[in-house]
Amino acid sequence: MTSPRPAAVIILAAGEGRRMRSTTPKVLHRIAGRTLLGHVLHAAATLAASHTAVVVGHGREQVVAMLAEQAPAVVPAVQDRQHGTGHAVRIALATLDGLAPDDTVVVLPGDAPLLTGETLAALVDHHHAQRAAATVLTAVLADATGYGRVVRDAAGGVRAIIEHRDADAATAAIREINTGVYAFRAGPLQAALARLTRENAQGEEYLTDVVGLLVGDGSPVAARIVADPVEAGGVNDRVQLAAAGRALRDRIVSAAMRAGTTVVDPHTTWIDADVTLEPDTTIAPNTFLHGRTHLARGAVVGPECTLTDTIVGAEASVVRTTAEQAEIGAGATVGPYSHLRPGTRLGREGKLGSFVETKSAEFGDHTKVPHLAYVGDAVVGERSNIGCTTVFVNYDGVAKHRTVIGSDVRIGSDTMLIAPVTVGDGAYTGAGSVIREDVPPGALAVREGRQRIIEGWVARRRPDSPAARAAAAAGAPSIPEVPDAAAPIDPVGADAHGAGTHGRSDLAHTRGGEAGIAGVPGAGSRT
Ligand code: UD1
Ligand code: CA
Repeated sequence: MTSPRPAAVIILAAGEGRRMRSTTPKVLHRIAGRTLLGHVLHAAATLAASHTAVVVGHGREQVVAMLAEQAPAVVPAVQDRQHGTGHAVRIALATLDGLAPDDTVVVLPGDAPLLTGETLAALVDHHHAQRAAATVLTAVLADATGYGRVVRDAAGGVRAIIEHRDADAATAAIREINTGVYAFRAGPLQAALARLTRENAQGEEYLTDVVGLLVGDGSPVAARIVADPVEAGGVNDRVQLAAAGRALRDRIVSAAMRAGTTVVDPHTTWIDADVTLEPDTTIAPNTFLHGRTHLARGAVVGPECTLTDTIVGAEASVVRTTAEQAEIGAGATVGPYSHLRPGTRLGREGKLGSFVETKSAEFGDHTKVPHLAYVGDAVVGERSNIGCTTVFVNYDGVAKHRTVIGSDVRIGSDTMLIAPVTVGDGAYTGAGSVIREDVPPGALAVREGRQRIIEGWVARRRPDSPAARAAAAAGAPSIPEVPDAAAPIDPVGADAHGAGTHGRSDLAHTRGGEAGIAGVPGAGSRT
């Protein structure tokens, strides 16, 4: 049966979480891509309650900001001083007007990220079926340390909840604990809250005392034992935070496998709660899928990928890659050792190869950047190829500029594209070119220094070296150095377009200037 929707859900999140030893409020610590409170809100959403209130206190600016962004319909209820869980519920009820005495109110702790929506729905069903004034979700744990114990009478009925710190030895030996999740009838809850005292080990108004008060009044109190005690796990310190993270990951990875994803190594595969996977996807070891990452059918990701908010198209393959806010087209291949930064969009059957970094870069279908390149602030058309060690030089030290490359373009290896610049459809650039001006469609752009040959340089400057011996064996001439002809030194060589000189005159230019020969490390100084 489906119960009527609860009138209200109240989530308690005002506590300091002292044991976390953190300036971040406890409920804002994250596992599996959501805050602890985010997980609880998500589970609570299953109940589709008319109102959801979150009690905030410690670090409330941060918690309220998170709620405004992620759950704008939620009403924050401010608890200035944390006088206990009962006090917190009293404050939350005061912000919810129009509650009728028979309305159902569900209370949840903000630090229980493993609770599932199904468990909450089953609790509410049980509560209605039992016509109870209060129904407690309990769990049986091997180690109940720190939890409130559920005390039952001889007939098995719930009598009270006793906090660990207030428990005598016999009570402390009870292994059935209070998960901190309850369904209440609003009228009896409000009446009992008004009667709470702070006479206990912590000097707080315990919500748990409501149970004993209702039993004393003869009101029906029910309990439901959670099927999987893992769901009861609260987070009070960072050891429990990690344990809850591990448990969530196990749950998510198992669900993914059951839904048709091959996970080669579940222990080294992390999938955040908001990741979506189509069937027949494969995830290889050491892979981390974060945020709203999506893998389409047939995609193969890993080993060793970290993808955040990234969409991987059908049949695409991604290996040893870090990507953030990127889109990878169907049938494309990425990696190994690629870094796709926000705004990267690779087309169908495209390729971003090894040691390629991209940012705000859109590539049309079948376009490839096979090796060693940086592509930033660019649009590239279809079927184009970007040669090895090409750099899209997008930053002039002040502002970023765009590069536009057409379709069927061939960018030669080691091209520097100085943005803003446009290369037209079907154009080529020569290897090693620095492209500062637009290239018209179909043109070849080259901008390179002439190659100079300095005959006999090794014999003169590296005599008796392995290189000199190899050169001599290959019949290299040994040309004595000509005395310096006080000629001005052409620093790099003639401009490709203006070069009219050749041979000996080029040689003369280099005399005495060999220390500065570009590209010859250590030339002129023996090391
Ligand atoms: C509480 C229960 C305990 C149960 C356990 C389950 C009480 C008295 N005890 O203990 O029976 O086994 O949860 O995890 O309820 N909070 C407020 N305002 C306050 C105090 C707490 O909003 O004044 C919030 C906390 O931020 C937290 C939740 O209530 O999210 C539970 O408080 P916590 O201090 O963690 O209670 P426990 O000692 O874990
Ligand atoms: Ca707790």
